[in-house]
Amino acid sequence: MNPEKLKIAVLGGTGNIGEGMVLRLALQNLMAGGVKNEVIIGSRSPETAEEAAKEALRELENCGFDTSGTTITGNSNLEAAKAADIIILTIRFTHVEPLLKEIREALEGKIVVTPVVPMVKEGPLFEYRPPAEGSAAQAIKERVPESTKVVAAFHNIAAGKLKDIVQCKAVHDSVVCSDDEEAKKVVFELVRHMGCLKPLDGGPLKHANTIESLTPLLINLAKLNGMKDLGINFS
Ligand SMILES: NC(=O)c1ccc[n+]([C@@H]2O[C@H](COP(=O)([O-])OP(=O)(O)OC[C@H]3O[C@@H](n4cnc5c(N)ncnc54)[C@H](OP(=O)(O)O)[C@@H]3O)[C@@H](O)[C@H]2O)c1
Repeated sequence: MNPEKLKIAVLGGTGNIGEGMVLRLALQNLMAGGVKNEVIIGSRSPETAEEAAKEALRELENCGFDTSGTTITGNSNLEAAKAADIIILTIRFTHVEPLLKEIREALEGKIVVTPVVPMVKEGPLFEYRPPAEGSAAQAIKERVPESTKVVAAFHNIAAGKLKDIVQCKAVHDSVVCSDDEEAKKVVFELVRHMGCLKPLDGGPLKHANTIESLTPLLINLAKLNGMKDLGINFS
C-alpha cells in the first residue's frame, strides 16, 4: 500500500453517509499538499455506482473545484473491493454479513473500515442493538480473513455534515478503534484530512461498542431538542 496514493472503496457509497464520504475523500486530492486518493464507489449495481461517481464529480465541480486531478469511479461491491487497499463499509448492519461473504476473496491483507452502527427504531427513537460479539466492529472482525485489519471510525458524524463540503468545516471528533496500530494510523490520516473531523485514538476494537452506541444518542438528542446533524467534541 502506498500511503501517498491510496485506493479506497466505499461500499454502499451510493447511500446517505457513503455519498458524503466519497466527496470528502475525493476532496483530499484537490487540497494543496493533499494526498492522492483514488475513490471507487461500490454498489450492488455497477451502473448505479458509475452514475454516483459521475454525480460526485458534478457536485465537486458545482462547488467550484477543478476535478481534473481526481479519480472517482464506480463498480460492483466485489470489483470495488478487489481494486482497493482500504474498504469502507457504508451499509446498514443487517446487510454486512452477506456482503462480507460476497467480497471475502477481496479482503486478504486489506484494511476494512466500519462506521456501521447496529440500531433499531423503537417508536420515535433509536436504540443501540449490538450483536452477540459486542459491537458491529467485532462482528465484522469475526467475519473477515485473519489478515484483514478492521478499523472502527466515522460513527458520530452525520451524513448531512459530510455532504456539505462548502459550509461544514466544523471539526467534530471521530474516535478510531483498532487492534492493528499501523492500520489505525492510516485511518487516522484519512480522518484528519476529511476537512470536518479530528481523529482521536479510542484504543482496541473491543471499545468500538462505546462509540457505536453514541450514534443513536446523537439522533435522539437532535429529534427531541429540535436540532440537526449533531456531532461530538470531547474537548
Ligand atoms: N447516515 C448517517 O448519518 C450515518 C452516520 C454514522 C454512521 N452511519 C452508518 O453508516 C451505514 C450506512 O448508513 P446510511 O444511512 O448511509 O445507509 P443507507 O443510505 O440506507 O444505505 C447505504 C447503501 O446500502 C446499500 N444497500 C441497501 N440494501 C442493501 C443490501 N441488501 N445489501 C447490500 N447493500 C445494500 C445501498 O447501495 P446500493 O443500492 O447502491 O447497493 C445503499 O445506498 C450504517 O451502518 C449506519 O449505521 C450512518
